[in-house]
Amino acid sequence: MIRLLRPLLPLGLGAALAASAWAATPEAPVPATGAGGMPQRVLACVTCHGKEGRATPDGYFPRIAGKPAGYLYNQLLNFRDGRRSYPQMSYLIEHLTDDYLREIAGHFASLELPYPPPPAPQAPPAVLEQGRLLVQQGDAARQIPACVQCHGQAMTGVVPAIPGLLGLPRDYLNSQLGAWATGQRRAQSPDCMARVARQLTPGDVSAVSAWLAAQPVPAGGKPAARLTAALPLPCGGVPADAVAH
Ligand code: HEC
Ligand code: HEC
Repeated sequence: MIRLLRPLLPLGLGAALAASAWAATPEAPVPATGAGGMPQRVLACVTCHGKEGRATPDGYFPRIAGKPAGYLYNQLLNFRDGRRSYPQMSYLIEHLTDDYLREIAGHFASLELPYPPPPAPQAPPAVLEQGRLLVQQGDAARQIPACVQCHGQAMTGVVPAIPGLLGLPRDYLNSQLGAWATGQRRAQSPDCMARVARQLTPGDVSAVSAWLAAQPVPAGGKPAARLTAALPLPCGGVPADAVAH
């Protein structure tokens, strides 16, 4: 029932928050030019994504502060161009140019803000252990690569285009993996995450999300500078030189 979370959870919440985003900025929420620096121009974004983009403690909205710039940029393109869908957000960016989206992505990526401690684990120990094994070792027999092979051993992502897996709400993780499996979320082709997500059973998804959401973010939470080995699958949007030779 993981897939149901996405339509049910964010839509109601987002509608309420979108209304307050308008109230906070009655003129164009993200003017392409105009007075004020980037922090003023992205006020509509932080209404949902939390103060300075750090996410809210108990919500569905993902943190955007400090994520790799290329990853954030790719997501803004994905929302604008229909590979991801969240209408309450997409309408804010549908008319923005690639350059302006790159600037917004660079702004949030450059923020260095502390992460709150993780919530208490929300699954029994055996389930958490199943999640940990999948993340750290994968399951070769079922063609599931270890998540850390791409997301970095510290799971804090790899610049420029692979996001970290820590500091995200469990509901958000569940719904993203569910959305990839059903094709509701897509990345640039070849979409490696779609291949990974389709190999996971609903039980796997639940275990992985529960374990990841309960891990603390290592100090700073910064993405790794490079991958240490070739990606186990090709990923669109990830430059080939992200891998150390
Ligand atoms: C109405 C609430 C809302 C507003 C306003 C909003 N967002 Fe979002 N944003 C979301 C939600 C919800 C998601 C996750 C959607 C999903 O895929 O389920 C999201 C996802 C994202 C992501 C992808 C994060 C990730 O880890 O993959 C980025 C980047 C992002 N938003 C940037 C922005 C920017 C920049 C703005 C301002 C121009 C903005 N958002 C405004 C609700 C909002
Ligand atoms: C072959 C490399 C690869 C593997 C293996 C991989 N990922 Fe990913 N993952 C990516 C890339 C690349 C992205 C960014 C996709 C995009 O641009 O939308 C991503 C994005 C994600 C996101 C979205 C994060 C966000 O903020 O929205 C989640 C969640 C995720 N992966 C979970 C996992 C889990 C769990 C596993 C292990 C079961 C895993 N990934 C294995 C490459 C990989």
